[in-house]
Amino acid sequence: MVLLPTGRLLLREFILDDAPALNAIEVHPDVARWVWLPGPSLEDTRRTIEFLIASAAETPRTIYTLAIVTKADDRLIGRCGFDITGPESTEGVVGYAMHRDYWGQGYMTEAVRALVGFGFGKLNLHRVWAEADPRNIGSWRVLGKVGMRREGHLIENAFENGDWCDSYIYAILDREWEGASRHPHPDTIAQ
Ligand SMILES: CC(C)(COP(=O)(O)OP(=O)(O)OC[C@H]1O[C@@H](n2cnc3c(N)ncnc32)[C@H](O)[C@@H]1OP(=O)(O)O)[C@@H](O)C(=O)NCCC(=O)NCCS
Repeated sequence: MVLLPTGRLLLREFILDDAPALNAIEVHPDVARWVWLPGPSLEDTRRTIEFLIASAAETPRTIYTLAIVTKADDRLIGRCGFDITGPESTEGVVGYAMHRDYWGQGYMTEAVRALVGFGFGKLNLHRVWAEADPRNIGSWRVLGKVGMRREGHLIENAFENGDWCDSYIYAILDREWEGASRHPHPDTIAQ
């Protein structure tokens, strides 16, 4: 059971009652566009949460997708997490989405900083990485702001909605994390 408090947020495990609030996040076209899926039905979202609850109970656990809740009013405003992959299960791939009404207030940066700290501090990950479409500026800025380095720009590596898309690859290693997490990566300041 994972519970990660930050200044304004609590990252916690999903429960079935979260389905309507999570669905409201995922169906917004500005969110669906970047997760490259059509908005799910409420039933789809319920099934997703059932899957997340089941995978949270697995040993070893490889899927950590957490609900992002405001401390002030206990509102579910987003999700973030990682899948554990790689040699010796020491690599975490980060993914996230924030309710459209809460964009641009630093919430996802706060959540991802806590998540990555948990991955290195408690799960003993060696490397955390993420992929973001260069046109999805808010997404790669989050990764840079938590101190991850842009280590790749893949050209037309994905075919989404009838279009070839590029990907930025951002990553950070465990030994880089302590200092990096407090400073935006220079890639992000420069752009
Ligand atoms: C990506 C996402 C999670 C960011 O959440 P958020 O809470 O708005 O993120 P933050 O506020 O912590 O940081 C976003 C940063 O990007 C900046 N930003 C966003 N859009 C921007 C744009 N078009 N141009 C320049 N900067 C932009 C914000 O100003 C902020 O930077 P700042 O704090 O330096 O001002 C949210 O936009 C989202 O849910 N998007 C849809 C789903 C998605 O893209 N998931 C990731 C798939 S890879």
